[in-house]
Amino acid sequence: MKRFVCVMVMVVFVFMSLGGVVHAHSHVSFFAHRGASALAPENTIEAFEQAINMGADYIELDIQMSQDGHLVVIHDDTLDRTTNASGDVSHYTLAQLKKLDAGSWFDVSYEGAKIPTLEDVFQAFGDHVHYCIEIKANQRSEYMIAKLHELIENYQLMDVVMVQSFDEDLLHLLRNIDVTYPLIQIISRPKSGFRGKNQLSHVESYADGLCLNARYTSPSFVKHARTKGLLVHMYTVNKRKDIKKWLNRGVTGIITDDLRLMEYFK
Ligand code: G3P
Ligand code: CA
Repeated sequence: MKRFVCVMVMVVFVFMSLGGVVHAHSHVSFFAHRGASALAPENTIEAFEQAINMGADYIELDIQMSQDGHLVVIHDDTLDRTTNASGDVSHYTLAQLKKLDAGSWFDVSYEGAKIPTLEDVFQAFGDHVHYCIEIKANQRSEYMIAKLHELIENYQLMDVVMVQSFDEDLLHLLRNIDVTYPLIQIISRPKSGFRGKNQLSHVESYADGLCLNARYTSPSFVKHARTKGLLVHMYTVNKRKDIKKWLNRGVTGIITDDLRLMEYFK
């Protein structure tokens, strides 16, 4: 009997140290970074579909603007890395962008995947999913913000979106029109000590939460942010042990390319 108890204790210990199922964190949201981007070409309908099928809480996506003023879903401001064309996204019309292949760079099986518009994504998934929309900086930001807000309202998605940006000015533009959905300030390198506390007080004045680079964020910054009641999402966390670490530090969201890791925490 003694031996059995010892074995059971060891089994539980090994399971826990490997980061076993952590029911205490089941309220945490998992964000599919650019869709299920470890398994499908980022920011395509195919990547979002996989993310939804795998049970992601949010699909994270990036928006840029085409030359003729359409919101298109693509991370880089150039086409070179993720399509078969090159040059600035903003120099191409939507009709031109729609002719491009945004899948082959990832895998030949995705040949023909398209750059979606934000409207394509809303049409495909409606309010069956939560969206975390990242606005990439643009020279026509006021127009871009108005267009984004109009689309969210037209599709009645106010309750299922949050909007984030590295660019504080873009978030102020949204705050000024009294949006009801959460606004998230992305910060790559949060400040430390006293300056960190000031930074948090400032962000708190216009945003509902933070999206922080896991590589450069201290546990104390997360703690102070949570004390203020701010949402705290960490990006981009692709290792099970790191997800476990940040969950234990009280974050409210994990942004990951690899949704297969969710199974250990849901
Ligand atoms: O969600 C935060 C993350 O998406 C920001 O970085 O460069 O992947 O858009 P990036
Ligand atoms: Ca992003």
